[in-house]
Amino acid sequence: MRLDVITLAPEIVEGLRCYGVIGRAFAAGIAELHLHNPRDHATDRYRKVDDEPYGGGAGMVLKPEPVFAALEAIPVSPRRRVLLMTPQGRPLSQADLRRWAREHDQLVFLCGHYEGFDERIRTLAHEEVSIGDFVLTGGELPAMTIINGVVRLLPGTVGTAASLEEESHSALLLEHPQYTRPADFRGMEVPAVLRSGDHGAIARWRAEQQRLRTAERRPDLHARWLQAEAEAGGAANGAMED
Ligand SMILES: C[S@@+](CC[C@H](N)C(=O)[O-])C[C@H]1O[C@@H](n2cnc3c(N)ncnc32)[C@H](O)[C@@H]1O
Repeated sequence: MRLDVITLAPEIVEGLRCYGVIGRAFAAGIAELHLHNPRDHATDRYRKVDDEPYGGGAGMVLKPEPVFAALEAIPVSPRRRVLLMTPQGRPLSQADLRRWAREHDQLVFLCGHYEGFDERIRTLAHEEVSIGDFVLTGGELPAMTIINGVVRLLPGTVGTAASLEEESHSALLLEHPQYTRPADFRGMEVPAVLRSGDHGAIARWRAEQQRLRTAERRPDLHARWLQAEAEAGGAANGAMED
């Protein structure tokens, strides 16, 4: 998958190449990362990318010309998706990450800065995405969040498909608790069932823990899971989100 990030701070996004499974995915060619600075497309002598808002108000606004020019200079893959990072966008979910990983061969990220961007920049995007109901100074961390979440779903990045399917949000339920050695750490013991070797009992315990944990921490997800179960006649163990 080709990933293009249009950003005034490419050095922040560059950090994605440096660490862990995502860094290794770039090194192995599973995904390609391309960074584009709108400042390189500014045409005035000061390479200006921002200006005052029409009508007055606090702060500066990202100008349309350098952002349009930066996007137009990027090669277009057949299944490209352009995503605008904005706290006004639709909240990001695991279902979005799965959809982009499955259906697209190129994702382009438009990162805002300052007070935001000229409204006409919105016309460039297929989707506007928010990573939560809070405001950051720029779109780089949101773009990196999405890139991390998408790249780990690409075949070859993470060890086994099973580990992706079992984790939180792959179905509507959160993941069950996990333990490793030692069996007793400062008086906190690993549940006996996990050491029993009884695979049926372990599976039942984990399923029950998923339900309890989700009901306690995310009643909204649990309600959706109950509804999916009812619609599937109680046969499904958590309907997939997408
Ligand atoms: C300071 S914010 C601008 C916020 C803008 N004044 C508003 O109220 O919508 C600068 C940039 O950071 C990015 N950003 C900030 N918070 C974000 C969030 N929760 N999700 C996605 N992008 C965000 C966007 O690209 C945004 O244009």
